[in-house]
Amino acid sequence: MSSPSSSQVDLSHHLSAEAKLRRPNPMKEIWRLARRKPNMVSLANGDPHSSLYPIKSMQFEVASVDEKDPVASWRTAGPSARSQRLISTRDGPCALPVKTAMQYTTGAGLPETQCALTELTKFYHNPLDHTVTLTLGNADAVIKCFRLLGNPGDHFLADEFTFSALANAALPQGIKWVPVRIDDGGLIPEELERILSTWDEARGPKPHVLYTVPCGQNPTGSTLTVERRKRIYALAQRHDLIIIEDDPYYFLQYSAPASAAPARTLAPSFLSLDVDGRVLRVDSFSKIIAPGMRLGWVTSSAFFHAHLVSYTDSSTQHPHAFGQVFVTELLGPAGWTLPGFDAWVCGLRGEYQRRRDYFLALFARTVAPTGLAEARAPAAGMFVWVRIHVERHVRFRRERAIGRGRRTNCKQLMEELFEHCLDGGLVVMPGSVFVLSTDPEYDSPEGSIEDRMNYFRLTFAGTEEAMEQGLTIFGDALQEFFAEPASRLIKSEDVFDS
Ligand SMILES: Cc1ncc(COP(=O)(O)O)c(C=O)c1O
Repeated sequence: MSSPSSSQVDLSHHLSAEAKLRRPNPMKEIWRLARRKPNMVSLANGDPHSSLYPIKSMQFEVASVDEKDPVASWRTAGPSARSQRLISTRDGPCALPVKTAMQYTTGAGLPETQCALTELTKFYHNPLDHTVTLTLGNADAVIKCFRLLGNPGDHFLADEFTFSALANAALPQGIKWVPVRIDDGGLIPEELERILSTWDEARGPKPHVLYTVPCGQNPTGSTLTVERRKRIYALAQRHDLIIIEDDPYYFLQYSAPASAAPARTLAPSFLSLDVDGRVLRVDSFSKIIAPGMRLGWVTSSAFFHAHLVSYTDSSTQHPHAFGQVFVTELLGPAGWTLPGFDAWVCGLRGEYQRRRDYFLALFARTVAPTGLAEARAPAAGMFVWVRIHVERHVRFRRERAIGRGRRTNCKQLMEELFEHCLDGGLVVMPGSVFVLSTDPEYDSPEGSIEDRMNYFRLTFAGTEEAMEQGLTIFGDALQEFFAEPASRLIKSEDVFDS
């Protein structure tokens, strides 16, 4: 397996015991030898012969990107919207012929697709000395990164509210989460520094991995400022952290005008700042093409790439050829090409920004006047983190119980409000869903996160109709819940005497 490249820092000590124990898939090694030079005769691997694939060609009809705003044209023109065909035939000519695409390949993905995504990554991030590995989307990629880096008992850092589907996936591996406070500007570097510089080794090994969502963070919608990104990277260098940069909302950044070229206006990623090879950047097509694509890519040092490939070679193998053909043809000379892709994501930004603004204007009209909830405009992503003024509820209690560091009944009231919304016909995502599972003994100086769960995550990704109906129900549910007479619903467990 490759050593770290000479220009990068040796970070091999971050590998998990599992990753170190992993042996390359021996059959893949022989398979690679068959590709050492052209016209090798192979009687080695049991690869089905391409003449027996019952597929003559693959065709995809996609939106045309010739219009000034291709997303607006595609969305509004209905069945007459202009489209373009991507065709992969068995032997070509095309960017990725069926014959090649449908065969086994390595865990890195098909070279043609890897090359297309390397060019795309170069266009947006221009990283130094990094290699692309294809994945089945960010969930697959992040979990593979956890397996690559985490030993039982290791501490990993993450945004205090985070995408719990992935954070929870690390728990059976024995990884312990250490939450870092965030605000509208994303993860707070001073908090990260405080945790790292005051780490008590009696608690266990010092954290060596930071998992973070830098743009349109899920669930809070916050986006890291450029200045914070630089400070966090410097802290990662000082404290020897690996950064897993999970960035599915990168292309949905709204701070810049929608008409500007994204390559020049999107915030610099951690990958673009990485000189040591300590960033594993995780990208996905889920939010910019469709979630069912199940395709994404990790960009990392060649060293971590080799370990990701080794893991993939012996587990999921490479991603499906259908998605790889689609992406390769889409980005290829007969498809959108990179400028066309750029025009598409630029249009998507404009469209989601329009939906965000619609949501916020509605919120200002229907919910904010209640004085019971507030929403701030996210600079990226699909989510608004709505703060509920739970302290204004007649049954709100403070400082009456000390159990597990909890000082208020915020959690309980939020659960009731959630049920109240459901009764009204509205599903919202409770903030509690995103709380990292941590050791309460080490709660932050501000106290238990259970006292700060007074948030719902709402999305503006849907239709105007859904937003109108949803926010009307939400405003009504809030008013009813907060208007409850003091005496009516008080139950014995609501009384907070300790
Ligand atoms: C922060 C974050 N990471 C990962 C994912 C999963 O992405 P994918 O569909 O590429 O697996 C999501 C999806 O919502 C997400 O918000």
